[in-house]
Amino acid sequence: MFDVEKIRKDFPMIVNHPELIYFDSAATSFKPKCVIDEVMDYYQFNNVNIHRGDYDISFAVSKRYDDVRKTVARFINARRPEEIVYTYGATSSLNTVAINFGKKFLKKGDVILTSEVEHASDILPWFKAAEASGSSISYVPFPKSGKFDLEAYEKCFEDKNVKIVALPHVSNVLGYIYPMKQIARIAHEHGTYIAVDGAQAVPHIKVDVQDLDIDFLSFSSHKMLGPGGIGILYGKYELLDQLDPVFYGGGSNARFYPDCSIILKNTPEKFEAGTPDIEGVLGLGKAIEYLQDIGMDEVEAYGKKLADHFIAKLEKLDNVTVYNHGAQAGIVTFNVNGIFAQDAAGYFNKQGIAVRTGNHCAKMLDQIIGVNETIRASMYIYNTEEEIDRFVDVIKDTTLEKCVDSIL
Ligand code: ALA
Repeated sequence: MFDVEKIRKDFPMIVNHPELIYFDSAATSFKPKCVIDEVMDYYQFNNVNIHRGDYDISFAVSKRYDDVRKTVARFINARRPEEIVYTYGATSSLNTVAINFGKKFLKKGDVILTSEVEHASDILPWFKAAEASGSSISYVPFPKSGKFDLEAYEKCFEDKNVKIVALPHVSNVLGYIYPMKQIARIAHEHGTYIAVDGAQAVPHIKVDVQDLDIDFLSFSSHKMLGPGGIGILYGKYELLDQLDPVFYGGGSNARFYPDCSIILKNTPEKFEAGTPDIEGVLGLGKAIEYLQDIGMDEVEAYGKKLADHFIAKLEKLDNVTVYNHGAQAGIVTFNVNGIFAQDAAGYFNKQGIAVRTGNHCAKMLDQIIGVNETIRASMYIYNTEEEIDRFVDVIKDTTLEKCVDSIL
């Protein structure tokens, strides 16, 4: 049984800021005490390196670190822990795939099929992969609603040169869950690989990489209750194993020689050069356990409930435009009519409400929804309908004069 009041007590940021309404979890989530304790435990009792020390504490921490790989693999239903690479965040995972998939598999004339919905981190690496390989970028046409049009997508494969599809599972601005199982099936039917940006999906919905049959998945720990500085790259082993690492250094090689030859370790270690974010990995393991204790079905249902409640209330206001009717993953995007998004946010801030405004790093989305600046309220398991009601009361009474006064 989902008990939001009980959940709220687990989050020091909520306990320590009782007046704050935090609606910016898509940017980064709060961390529960068990995650913070896990990181503190590492620093206070176990602050040693892994896989390099010939002593008990190092053996014990190395085992805990390796066990988290199994936890992550189970969480997304990977076939084996070796399909899980620790990275520095979703951006580093996405770069690893794009740059190295490009090097290995793309050639002049190939097409990378992506979209204008993309976050910078899922499009700029593909721009660079295209530039380096002589491939081109093409965009799945989206309707103005920002919802996914499977028919329009399938037509894109009339171009036989499509070699990889790169799309998000959930839009970071619109909060729509795109039909990834069908998207992946269609890609594979056309002999194409699929790389998925899961940064906004994995924290909010059950993601089963085998059921979806996706080739690569990237996500960050800090958006799913875990520490910052640690991310995951999942790849089907046989594909992942063909990619080169981005970084070279200690921990990822078996031998190297004066003639400059390097023998790398096996996947995934070959991708993990340098001392990793050990405390980040341990904290991520706790975050996953915390989410699993609640249950991802419950997490997803609650995110949808909050978004439904919020949007239904906003739809009753005549001073608001909502851009993502029917969004599921706890994201509501809107504008107060006639008021610049950031000015409205300045006023909300004075009322103790934290939101993000602007283009949310999706700098081409305006080509689809026709607006560049929006207010994004992004919620998670610790937010409540009462917070939404308080925010809607503030939005209802928001005027240009009040916004200007709050800036002066
Ligand atoms: N990618 C994060 C966001 O959407 C920072 O806000």
